[in-house]
Amino acid sequence: MQGKFITFEGPEGGGKSTHAKELADALRAEGKTVLETREPGGTRLAELIRGLVREEREDPPVTRSEVLLFLASRAQVVANAIRPALARGEWVVCDRFSDSTFAYQGYGRGIDVALLKDLNEFATEGLKPDLTILLDVPPDVSRARLAERQCATATSADRIESAGELFHRRLRDGFLELARQEPSRFVVIDSSGPREEVSRGVMKAVDRIR
Ligand SMILES: Nc1ncnc2c1ncn2[C@@H]1O[C@H](COP(=O)(O)OP(=O)(O)OP(=O)(O)O)[C@@H](O)[C@H]1O
Ligand SMILES: [Mg+2]
Repeated sequence: MQGKFITFEGPEGGGKSTHAKELADALRAEGKTVLETREPGGTRLAELIRGLVREEREDPPVTRSEVLLFLASRAQVVANAIRPALARGEWVVCDRFSDSTFAYQGYGRGIDVALLKDLNEFATEGLKPDLTILLDVPPDVSRARLAERQCATATSADRIESAGELFHRRLRDGFLELARQEPSRFVVIDSSGPREEVSRGVMKAVDRIR
């Protein structure tokens, strides 16, 4: 039997990494085999690409090459990790996927979303998640959580995190628009509330595809 593919999406600090990990652990506790992965990244070559797109550099990628780098990373993780796991009947939980490209490079940076969808189709050979959980937070919550995390881990914002306020607002609205367009794939959860409540929402969303 083909496995199930779940992605977490949404603005920074929404809790994607937190809840992806928690869900993967909960599914494992039920006896399922789970591939937990993230984007960009998830294979050795894809992790190298992750470094390239996130680091501050003198010659940052122009928007078009940013798109292609993200898609190159996605093509690798789909072909070499996600599809093989699904074929083995495993569950796959991925921290960000195609919708992040549509939100960041499309709604955020202004590239035609229809074009991005075509390019993405090429990179993924049409693979779509069975369920996408959009953890929605307003920009002020997003900013506060990022600041807290940077303080706790003594790190600074990466190249994309440090983009301006307007960008972050377009990003959030873009994610919500994507969810409106595909209500059968998306579940939107308000992630500004308490963590336990968000966890319950995640488990309820997953029940939809069991
Ligand atoms: N519901 C919540 N209430 C309060 N704090 C939360 C909640 N969910 C997550 N956090 C905290 O917010 C911070 C960001 O969470 P996390 O790293 O999981 O977000 P993310 O969506 O993966 O962010 P990024 O896009 O930057 O990777 C963490 O410190 C986490 O503990
Ligand atoms: Mg994260």
